[in-house]
Amino acid sequence: MNQDPPLQMKSFRRILFLFSVIAVLSQRSEAAEPVEFGKHVYPILRDHCLKCHAAPYQDARTGRTKKPKGGIRFDSVELIKKGYINDDDKLVKGVVAGKPAESSLYTVTTLPADHDDIMPATGDPLTKEQQNVLKQWIAQGADYSDFKAPVYINPKAKK
Ligand code: HEC
Repeated sequence: MNQDPPLQMKSFRRILFLFSVIAVLSQRSEAAEPVEFGKHVYPILRDHCLKCHAAPYQDARTGRTKKPKGGIRFDSVELIKKGYINDDDKLVKGVVAGKPAESSLYTVTTLPADHDDIMPATGDPLTKEQQNVLKQWIAQGADYSDFKAPVYINPKAKK
């Protein structure tokens, strides 16, 4: 008598095995791949922060000059490194290399959605994945490599 499992069962096991191999491999590459400022972090800042935290610009509709909120700018590596003056008149570094929990640029994005200080101040919170990109990059030493941020132009700016 044939003691082998039926063919269907065999291929099912094979598929299960394949899936577990893929799962292990993808986890490995996630852990191994360093987070790059220019490739992973800057696009999050550009898309979710810079409309309020970049150079002053003239609003096309009102003609008014719009200053960065709180005087805080993240539109260049130099400005991120320099830090900003907080409500208590203290110079704060938004990014403290190796210490995500002390880096306001990351911690403000993780506040509860209804918190007064959550960033972005309006619109949807960052996704968990986006928060983790910021966290990992800071944890891995907040390396900017030689990234030079392009000039940021607010979509509402007068052309
Ligand atoms: C819609 C406008 C807006 C957007 C978008 C926005 N912010 Fe802000 N941000 C503010 C305002 C307003 C303040 C408060 C400034 C003040 O205290 O005068 C602020 C303050 C901050 C502070 C200072 C917190 C403190 O008290 O030390 C940090 C850090 C910050 N933002 C980071 C970010 C980050 C990171 C993003 C993107 C994920 C972001 N912000 C997106 C409006 C915005």
